[in-house]
Amino acid sequence: MLFSILACVFGGTMRNREFIIYEDYDSLSKAVALRMAEFVRTNPQSLLCLAAGETPLGALRALVALQSENKVDLRTCWYVGLDEWLGLGYGDPGSCAQIMQDIFYGPAGIPSDHLSVFDGLDEDTDFQTKKAFDFIKARGGISLALLGIGMNGHLGFNEPGTTVDFPGGTIDLDETTRTVGKKYFAKPFPLDKGITIGLKHLLAAKRILLMANGEKKAGIVETCMRESPDPSRPASFLQDHPGFELYLDKGAASRLLDRNQE
Ligand code: PGA
Repeated sequence: MLFSILACVFGGTMRNREFIIYEDYDSLSKAVALRMAEFVRTNPQSLLCLAAGETPLGALRALVALQSENKVDLRTCWYVGLDEWLGLGYGDPGSCAQIMQDIFYGPAGIPSDHLSVFDGLDEDTDFQTKKAFDFIKARGGISLALLGIGMNGHLGFNEPGTTVDFPGGTIDLDETTRTVGKKYFAKPFPLDKGITIGLKHLLAAKRILLMANGEKKAGIVETCMRESPDPSRPASFLQDHPGFELYLDKGAASRLLDRNQE
């Protein structure tokens, strides 16, 4: 695949699956954006589930840049937000909805009726959950999910302990998520609960792209990709997904590479 060769340092294997390593965050982000553009060109009506975490933001910015160069049209696809902090919504800096609006949905000109985003301010979380599930069902499931991996192995707010049959809904946030999540907020905010698309819907996606960068992610990437799939590390369930693609920079891949060379 051409996109894999661009800026690629070298690849490796984990449990018989390939991973591709990029020199730095910028080349990683550009490669993922090219992969997504290729996917959208061949699946222009597809439903995408995009994480609002720190890691994928570079790829989303690069994807919008590809659209401005007329290399892809992102406006024909549909989008379901992956997760949200309960108690935050549009207009709250640091909310997933606002981050995605600022970085992707707004600049890409995505029509509002092509979007389903959790409203973390709505106390009727059952309604919010049902709305997301109905949106996914109406489009025949998620075609592509773009995800980051949390320091505790979470995907969205599928926290440690989540099983593969969890369709989504509200969840008590893990201590690691509460601590790490402070990076999104200028002011302190109680990060107790979240709402998320569950593993059941994510693992039913045709393609799942997982990105990780930086040495701080090397340990959790290695654990989730090498050890047996287990609810204590939700990202480990990706290992057996037939449409799983892993994109790493050198830092995040460092432990996998060390083990490969043993
Ligand atoms: P998180 O997101 O740090 O909010 O868990 C994962 C990532 O995108 O790095």
